[in-house]
Amino acid sequence: MAKPVYVLNGPNLNMLGRREPAIYGRETLDDVRGRVQTHARSLGLEVEFRQSNHEGELVTWIQDAREAASAIVLNAGALTHTSIAILDALTAAELPVIEVHLSNIYKRESFRHHSYVSPAATGVICGLGPKGYLLALDALADILNQGTRATKRRTG
Ligand code: DQA
Repeated sequence: MAKPVYVLNGPNLNMLGRREPAIYGRETLDDVRGRVQTHARSLGLEVEFRQSNHEGELVTWIQDAREAASAIVLNAGALTHTSIAILDALTAAELPVIEVHLSNIYKRESFRHHSYVSPAATGVICGLGPKGYLLALDALADILNQGTRATKRRTG
């Protein structure tokens, strides 16, 4: 059984749909979860979709991912701009990581222009709304497939 992709969401993302809809849109996190699960199924991927308002809980999930997951999609919310602990956990996880933001963080306040997640990310997607999560899964499907093909070549 292939390991799931962990799709992790940080603080305030549970407020999606109600929170600043002009920036984040009207879809709720449950809507996003549904789209992610449907798209993952079409790609043959399992996903584990979670949200937490607590930095430590996210760090623990990223630590768990090292053994339990094949890759991580992470929207760390505001912790993107503050959390060295999340950067350290991602670096230690040694997994493909796609950083996602619903909004274009580079069009917004300057404090959102710096990300502690990006140095540990394979790729970054921002400004495309919930579609960003689906594109992250597309990218991971390719990355994980390449890994499987390379392993098959090595082991025959
Ligand atoms: C966000 C952007 C962050 O700057 C912000 O703090 C969020 C959401 C996004 O998805 O656009 O909570 O990560």
